[in-house]
Amino acid sequence: MNEIIQPAKSLTGALELPGDKSISHRYAMLAALAEGTSELRHFSDAADCHSTLNCIRALGADVKTGKGTVRITGRGARGLQSSWRALDAGNSGTTMRLLAGMLAGQDFSSKLTGDDSLQKRPMKRVIAPLREMGADIRGREDNFAPLEIRGAKLHAIDYKMPMASAQVKSAVLLAGLFAEGATSVTEPARTRDHTEIALEEFGASIERDGQTIRVHGLGNGNGRGKLVAKSLDVPGDLSSAVFFLAAASLFPDSNLLIHNVGLNPTRTAILDVFAERGASIHMLGLKSSQGEVIGDLAVKGAALKGGVISGRHIPLVIDELPMLAALGPYTEEGIEIRDAAELRVKESDRIAALAENLRRMGAKVEERPDGLRIEGCRAGKLRGAEIDPHGDHRIAMAFAVAGLAAEGNTVIRDADCAGVSFPAFFAELNRLAER
Ligand code: S3P
Repeated sequence: MNEIIQPAKSLTGALELPGDKSISHRYAMLAALAEGTSELRHFSDAADCHSTLNCIRALGADVKTGKGTVRITGRGARGLQSSWRALDAGNSGTTMRLLAGMLAGQDFSSKLTGDDSLQKRPMKRVIAPLREMGADIRGREDNFAPLEIRGAKLHAIDYKMPMASAQVKSAVLLAGLFAEGATSVTEPARTRDHTEIALEEFGASIERDGQTIRVHGLGNGNGRGKLVAKSLDVPGDLSSAVFFLAAASLFPDSNLLIHNVGLNPTRTAILDVFAERGASIHMLGLKSSQGEVIGDLAVKGAALKGGVISGRHIPLVIDELPMLAALGPYTEEGIEIRDAAELRVKESDRIAALAENLRRMGAKVEERPDGLRIEGCRAGKLRGAEIDPHGDHRIAMAFAVAGLAAEGNTVIRDADCAGVSFPAFFAELNRLAER
């Protein structure tokens, strides 16, 4: 289905976002391993999180979905069962990489598969450390899904991650629950810490020391032996909020309030980037909730400045880079993104998809192996165009926002892909856009 984006004058009103995707995945997986029934409120309605729910259901957890709330009765850490069919992670890298960790130490075999995009994304990054722990995992060309996992006896390792990746860290920590001894992971740079927080909430024994996180295996006496069901509220997804923060910033008369957003400090680097670029965004009513931080975000229009985004900031804003890049032509100086080659192995090759679609809208773009340089508004105003998101939710949403301030209509082809993280995105954008 195509979506037509008409130019807007401002974004005004209030909205609530879907539950955080990263947190929803983790809560669901740990609930499946826990004893008892967990109630997960404001669970994400994203297609990616449904993939996780379907996988844990196939592994024997009882999953009941209601209005925004998911009830999961776990099987206990050693109670999951082999699935007779391949576990389908759909488009979700988090589902596949974290499940690989969770399943490596079971006493049964599993097969993990996904859609065409996921089957092209690198899995060696989790295969390698899990193998060090004793896992038996095979993939196509030793790097790609489908992954065949034969459950094995795992031992603890001290893993120094060669890359900053929350998914790799999480896969090793989840495998660590089933290893003998205490498994540690040291990150080269901080990444989102939802797994550590969730493990603690469900009763695992976790220690943190700077950039090292240690988890005790459940069965070796040091650990607490089991995970226990929890009732938890999932905060709104900041990575989805970013599209609305960007859209509202583009128009001087905007006035938008976003309720109950997850503001965990390992996710809020994007707010610092916006602040440095002159955006008017304020956090209100911050409170801590079950290890996470929640608050509201108030945003008004502002003239955005360009600049360079690079180095250690990149892993902390990796999911927000498509939106930042698509704002480039609306800044005076333009935006340059460096050190972000990782963008090429996301749901699409995001560097190529951004360059192609920005050019379709008339922007001047230099594509580089690890980023892009996008000229600012002195190079001319963007015009509406037909956008090909390459099946990538964040590309579709970023260009819908860019289209709001362009001359003429923008058509987002196959716009349904936004449902991977935000099924109501276009309805919400149209509701809030004043025309
Ligand atoms: C995620 C981690 C990030 C992010 C992805 C979600 C997570 O990936 O891009 O959308 O939930 O752990 P990497 O760990 O590959 O950086």
